[in-house]
Amino acid sequence: MNASPRPCPPPGLGSAAIGPEEEALVLDALRRGELFRYYGNDPAHPPPFAARLEAEAATLFGVRYALAVSSGTAALETILAASGVGPGSEVIVPAWSWISCFTAIVRCGARPVLAEVDGSLCLDPAEIDRLTTPRTRAVLVVHYQGASADLDAIIPAARARGLLVIEDCAEAPGATYRGRRLGSLGDAGIYSFQHNKPMTAGEGGLVVTNSAYLYERAVRLHDLGQFRPYHATITPPVEAAFCGAQYRMSELTAAVALAQLRKLDAIRDHCRALKARIVAQLAKLPGIQLRPLADPEGDFGFELYFYARNADTAGTFRARLQQRGVACQQRTGTYPQYRRDYVISGRAAHRELSPFRNLGPWPAPGYRAEDFPKTEDLTSRFVALPLGWKYTTDDADHIAASVAAVHRDLA
Ligand SMILES: Cc1ncc(COP(=O)(O)O)c(C=O)c1O
Repeated sequence: MNASPRPCPPPGLGSAAIGPEEEALVLDALRRGELFRYYGNDPAHPPPFAARLEAEAATLFGVRYALAVSSGTAALETILAASGVGPGSEVIVPAWSWISCFTAIVRCGARPVLAEVDGSLCLDPAEIDRLTTPRTRAVLVVHYQGASADLDAIIPAARARGLLVIEDCAEAPGATYRGRRLGSLGDAGIYSFQHNKPMTAGEGGLVVTNSAYLYERAVRLHDLGQFRPYHATITPPVEAAFCGAQYRMSELTAAVALAQLRKLDAIRDHCRALKARIVAQLAKLPGIQLRPLADPEGDFGFELYFYARNADTAGTFRARLQQRGVACQQRTGTYPQYRRDYVISGRAAHRELSPFRNLGPWPAPGYRAEDFPKTEDLTSRFVALPLGWKYTTDDADHIAASVAAVHRDLA
């Protein structure tokens, strides 16, 4: 095994797979000259791409309803508001998660309640019991970097307390849990098509659910309260209109996303095969502790994690691996919610919109680093090894050999 310096390709997923398929669908959208999803030149025949993306995504992800929106963040705000999350309610969310998992809750006027993660770097199921109050409305489960949270424990714990389960699959479209697609197990799910994601359109997002009620409310929330005739062909509207935002997806974005959706499983299978190859080699190293996953079979496989003894050793591992050309720099510095400026300040755009305004001296307990010893410990010790669509088996062998070499040096 060769562990000498050897640059790995940039770890792109969907972005690295853009090709003739995306070109063909985008050209089709342009040549139609109909870039707005609900009508074009002939009002009776709206253009196809957003509708087709929704239909194919619903089939692929195993849900009844899918709604294309302008970003993953918009998808979060839409489904949280659709779920009745609002002023006075609380949503349990991992303290280690993407920025908008927190901001989307605040923008609904509700309070994010931060939970510790477990070794999988996803929500620790035991936190649901500790953090539920009479105001808790939902649990926002984040399937972190390709792999599922422990849904066998989380869903019953949430159901027993009357809480909705919203799956954030922004980082794990195409991943599964015990054979079922993430996003189809809770009450609703969201996906993101931002540049770094397994499938991308630059920006874009999707809401999925099996609930006609949530679907209708999500449609209204993403389109200024309206429920246009296209959606009535899917399910008849029964809810009264209410104010919504404008988070619609354009036909151009939908054309790219549709081509990418059709490639998603191929990208996943490629990453899974490379990850399995590395795991088999790391398994021979004494003392290497891989990220324990709730369902290892279902992992998308685009990032392999292992834990070092302590933060210093993790830092040394990263530095030495990078010297060997392994791209493993820490890219999740924004993830501890309790370290973000708006959490430290407790501010929203308007004082009255801050769900923290009545919590007393700020930061209050539950919003400070010292309240999350488990999350702090785990996230200071991991080393993440990204894989990508352009990676080859030689790249995977080089990563494994490099980890083995650094591990030997540090023993
Ligand atoms: C877990 C998670 N949720 C939500 C989002 C938001 O997606 P977007 O960037 O499309 O708004 C992201 C992506 O960046 C994410 O990683």
